[in-house]
Amino acid sequence: MRKILVTGGAGFIGSNFVHYVLNESDVTVVVLDKLTYAGNPRSLEGALSHRANLVVGDVCDEVLVDELVASVDAVVHFAAESHNDNSLRNPRRFLDTNVIGTYTLIEAARRHDVRYHHVSTDEVYGDLELDDPNRFTEVTPYNPSSPYSSTKAASDLLVRAWVRSFGLKATISNCSNNYGPYQHVEKFIPRQITNVIDGVRPKLYGQGQNVRDWIHANDHSAAVWLILQRGIIGETYLIGADGEKNNREVVEAILQIMGQPSDAYDFVLDRPGHDLRYAIDSSKLRVDLGWRPQFSDFIAGLENTIGWYRENEHWWRPKKSQTEAMYSSLGQ
Ligand code: NAD
Ligand code: TYD
Repeated sequence: MRKILVTGGAGFIGSNFVHYVLNESDVTVVVLDKLTYAGNPRSLEGALSHRANLVVGDVCDEVLVDELVASVDAVVHFAAESHNDNSLRNPRRFLDTNVIGTYTLIEAARRHDVRYHHVSTDEVYGDLELDDPNRFTEVTPYNPSSPYSSTKAASDLLVRAWVRSFGLKATISNCSNNYGPYQHVEKFIPRQITNVIDGVRPKLYGQGQNVRDWIHANDHSAAVWLILQRGIIGETYLIGADGEKNNREVVEAILQIMGQPSDAYDFVLDRPGHDLRYAIDSSKLRVDLGWRPQFSDFIAGLENTIGWYRENEHWWRPKKSQTEAMYSSLGQ
C-alpha cells in the first residue's frame, strides 16, 4: 500500500488516524473532507507536508470521489455526520453523508477494485441493560435507536451487501466512544472540560447513569490501521478497550482533576431515545489480529486530554459559544 484516501480526515478521529499513519508508515495520504462545522484543518497541522494533502469536497460528489479513489490503493472512510443530538434536530444531512456518501465511495471502490475500510460505531447494536452480563460482539443483531445510529447501520449493511454481491474488498470496524485531543466541544467529555474552564457547571442528561465504553482515539487509530493491513476481507471487527463508565463517574473525574468539588454539576433534560449502555467485547480483534489498547488507564488519558484543552483554547474557542447556544435552546 503506497497511497490511501482518508475521508473525514479533518475530523476528530480521522485526523488522529492521519497523524498515526504518517508516523507509523511511509504511505502517502490524501484527505477528502467537506470541512463541515465538525472539520478543522488545524487538526492536521504538521501532517499536511509532502506525504499528506487535503482535498476539500463532499463524499457524495461522484465525479470527485471517482477521480480520487482511482488514484489510491485503499480507502478508509471516517467522514460522517457524527453527533446524536444533531441527528435528532436535523436528520436529513445524516442520510446524505452517512448513507449516500458511503454508497458513492463503495461504488467507486468497486469500479476501481480498491481496498475499502469502513469506520463505524457500536451504536448500530442499540443499547444494553445496566445489569446485562453480555456485551456487543460481531454477531449481535443490529437495533439502532437514533437517526445517527440508524444511518450508520444502513451504511454498514450497504458495505456487507457490496462484499457479497460485488466482491468489494472491504472490512468494517465498529468502535465504542472515543475521547482525546481535537474532539469537537459538542461531545460529552470536551463539552464538560471546556465548561469547567469557562466556570460553567457540567451538564448531565437525565440522571447521569448512562454507560459508555471509553477508548482513546489513538487506540482506535491503531486498530483501524491493523485491520486495514491484516483484516480478513468481508469481516467485521469490534474495537473497544474495556472502558465502561457511567456519565456521572466521568464528570466527577473531570471535576476532581480540574480542582473542583466533585458534585459541582447539574442534571438537565434527557436526550430523547437516549441509549442506556454500550459495552464491547473486542476478543476477535485481540485474538485474531493481536491488537491491545495502549491507553488502558482512563484517568491518565483524561488528565492528558484536559491538559490539551487547557493549552489549545485557540483550537476550540471559536466553536464554543455557538455550541452552547444550540444546547441551551434544547434545555440542555
Ligand atoms: P467528526 O464529526 O469529528 O468528524 C467528521 C468529519 O467528516 C469532519 O471533518 C467533517 O468535516 C467530515 N464530513 C462530514 N460530512 C462530510 C461529507 N459529506 N463529505 C466529506 N467530509 C465530510 O467525527 P468523528 O468523531 O471523528 O467520527 C469519525 C467516524 O468515526 C464516523 O464515521 C463515526 O461514525 C465513527 N465513530 C465515532 C466514534 C466517536 O466516539 N466519536 C465512535 C465510533 C465510531
Ligand atoms: P456523546 O458524546 O454525545 O456521545 P454518544 O451519544 O455517541 O454516546 O454523549 C456521551 C454520553 O454523554 C451520552 O450518554 C450522552 C451524555 N451527555 C451528557 O450527559 N451531557 C452532555 O452535555 C452531552 C453532550 C452528552
